[in-house]
Amino acid sequence: MVCTRKTKTLVSTCVILSGMTNIICLLYVGWVTNYIASVYVRGQEPAPDKKLEEDKGDTLKIIERLDHLENVIKQHIQEELKEKLSEYVDKVNGQKPGFIKVVRHSKQEGLIRSRVSGWRAATAPVVALFDAHVEFNVGWAEPVLTRIKENRKRIISPSFDNIKYDNFEIEEYPLAAQGFDWELWCRYLNPPKAWWKLENSTAPIRSPALIGCFIVDRQYFQEIGLLDEGMEVYGGENVELGIRVWQCGGSVEVLPCSRIAHIERAHKPYTEDLTAHVRRNALRVAEVWMDEFKSHVYMAWNIPQEDSGIDIGDITARKALRKQLQCKTFRWYLVSVYPEMRMYSDIIAYGVLQNSLKTDLCLDQGPDTENIPILYICHGMTPQNVYYTSSQQIQVGILSPTVDDDDNRCLVDVNSRPRLIECSYAKAKRMKLHWQFSQGGPIQNRKSKRCLELQENSGAEFGFQLVLQRCSGQHWSITNVLRSLAS
Ligand SMILES: *[C@@H]1O[C@H](CO)[C@@H](O)[C@H](O)[C@H]1NC(C)=O
Repeated sequence: MVCTRKTKTLVSTCVILSGMTNIICLLYVGWVTNYIASVYVRGQEPAPDKKLEEDKGDTLKIIERLDHLENVIKQHIQEELKEKLSEYVDKVNGQKPGFIKVVRHSKQEGLIRSRVSGWRAATAPVVALFDAHVEFNVGWAEPVLTRIKENRKRIISPSFDNIKYDNFEIEEYPLAAQGFDWELWCRYLNPPKAWWKLENSTAPIRSPALIGCFIVDRQYFQEIGLLDEGMEVYGGENVELGIRVWQCGGSVEVLPCSRIAHIERAHKPYTEDLTAHVRRNALRVAEVWMDEFKSHVYMAWNIPQEDSGIDIGDITARKALRKQLQCKTFRWYLVSVYPEMRMYSDIIAYGVLQNSLKTDLCLDQGPDTENIPILYICHGMTPQNVYYTSSQQIQVGILSPTVDDDDNRCLVDVNSRPRLIECSYAKAKRMKLHWQFSQGGPIQNRKSKRCLELQENSGAEFGFQLVLQRCSGQHWSITNVLRSLAS
């Protein structure tokens, strides 16, 4: 890949690095990771690590590495690093007054408000917002600044490589756009078809959203509404920014010629209950930006659309922003910017599926490695998500986010046994995947006429097993019904 560099277009850029203990605006980037790498890698004996690989199971290996990593963080980030960083900042600013700004919050504000605090401290025409645990590759800034100079309404992400969290090795990642699933977790995407057609691996990749690190014209970032400061801790702000920028007249792209490496952590240290925060933030995005498609976010998280009991905070200012900027609809966004995203407008009921014979047990997808649905104590998390469609399919587990991943699994009658088979495969093979179901009624296969029922079995884990048999009149119910279930 040959990347050309036009250096004439450079403007000064404030690089904002946010981390748990501080937010730093500086040009000497990568200091934090360099520092840890030098201390950590130096003290590491390669031999015992190898032994670990050979002797232990995967889970144990990961736990041990995590423990090790936590120690490294404790030792270096929280005590020594903070001190050394201050010394470094003083030294640089001694030579160039005001060159590095350090912004510290008196309490933990979370990633989102921290980034905005960094932005408030910045004065350069362009700001680059990054995690503290990134390393910049040579020449990352030039192509970005060129694209922003051409059009200030572009928000740019560099291409990401991975820094392995346990040994700081670099792992090259394939070129990718950045998107999200229906829970609004960000994810890498295959670049769009139009990009592949260009056959130019240095061309900008149009991107529906952002993983979280980006470069933006400082003034434009304000015009478009910064980040949603009503969000807490972590997650969703990157997706919200992408959707908002597109719907409100800007664009987002990933540049292959600008590369950074990022430590993809095995464990995020911000809080015990990260998922609850991500879910709350996702619901803010759904309510402000997604119009009728907000239902998809509720369905993916398996929570009711009315009275969810989740406090998402005040969104009136964000709604006013959308109105003021005269933004397009989410449908427009899905069709024009993120056509890979799957739509689930045919779902008419969702939630956990319970049988009246034993209501503390729920239908569950069972072990990942198998295709046998089971009964399990109800917990309502992803393995127990059930979706019933207007075409009478029963889908179990995660809602597959894009057309490129085909992992929706449907309940199928396979030789009188309940099985979970990839839906499009089951459909293509004309398997028995259609079920008649009405709330409080039986679940009966349209072809085989057998019913999904519970059978007492003292050998089964919870005293019952899932079977397909002649209908004996058992009743099922599902948590949320969107449209009336015809019987
Ligand atoms: C490939 O894309 C780059 C970046 O947009 C552009 O400068 C270059 O002219 C393109 N090359 C060809 C052969 O089109």
